[in-house]
Amino acid sequence: MLIFVVQNIYLHLNKNTMKAEKISLKESKEKPVVDHLNELLANYHIHYQKVRGCHWNVKGKSFFTLHLKFEELYTAALTTIDELAERILTLGKSPYSTFADYIKKSKINEIDTIGLKDTAMVKAIIEDMAVLIKMERDILEITADAGDDGTNDMINRFMQFKEKNTWMLRSFVNED
Ligand SMILES: [Fe+2]
Repeated sequence: MLIFVVQNIYLHLNKNTMKAEKISLKESKEKPVVDHLNELLANYHIHYQKVRGCHWNVKGKSFFTLHLKFEELYTAALTTIDELAERILTLGKSPYSTFADYIKKSKINEIDTIGLKDTAMVKAIIEDMAVLIKMERDILEITADAGDDGTNDMINRFMQFKEKNTWMLRSFVNED
């Protein structure tokens, strides 16, 4: 019986602690990385649905421009979400996968896009991106400390995409 219990504890520890080490990363350093990636994943889902809502509900003279731009942005967000979740799995943990978790863990709030002015939509997306960029800068520091170049490189790519797009969106609404 004792052997069985010890064996089970060993298997449990093995299952939960050895994956990062399999790709030469330190488990203890990766824990905060994975927690932050999961938090970013939650925020990205709320952001994704917001952009999708803007794509559906935009009205007015800029319809053709913004309908397309929002589609480009939510398509990119969808790819980002998948890459984030699969990086979490690569590091040996489970990504959040319910909307209940996304809403609970996200700093970004949902908004109702029905009847929202087109420029207010753009400003809402700029605000979301600022939050996501801030979170990504924190992850860049943590991953540098963990020697996790793979995650660092991936997050850097996501961040640069949004840096450029916030410039374009700010130009659209005439903000500096
Ligand atoms: Fe569409």
